[in-house]
Amino acid sequence: MTIMRVSLNAASVGQAEMDADHVEMERLWSLAVDAPAFTLSGEIGRLLNHLEEHFGDEEALMVDTGFPGLTGHAADHTSLMQMLRAIAEMADDDAEAARTQLAEDLPNALNRHLEGFDQPAARWIRDTVQKRPEPLVIG
Ligand SMILES: [Fe+2]
Ligand SMILES: [Fe+2]
Repeated sequence: MTIMRVSLNAASVGQAEMDADHVEMERLWSLAVDAPAFTLSGEIGRLLNHLEEHFGDEEALMVDTGFPGLTGHAADHTSLMQMLRAIAEMADDDAEAARTQLAEDLPNALNRHLEGFDQPAARWIRDTVQKRPEPLVIG
């Protein structure tokens, strides 16, 4: 069966940590979409772990720089995690149905997030960090 695949547009948002994470997100997502049925759950699990960590790191950057849109941004992270957890559960019963959502619904939602939430947050973080005397250290 050929599945439609929406391309995930993880192009640069102009903030180094976020961009590096988004490249990895795209790589793990692509591996999951292409995974054979017997490794699909595992690959989705890797993507889930990455996103959980990435969303936490992004929220920490927003807290650290006093980003005013944190609440709405974090709420969208929560709904993305819910969507991917539902896909992960589905993968155990119906791998191809899960794959279809993984290839279409998830990249659509992530693209909306990248454009509507990550870009403005990245701009804020970059501008705020640039005004500081010392570079921001995360970790
Ligand atoms: Fe992000
Ligand atoms: Fe985000």
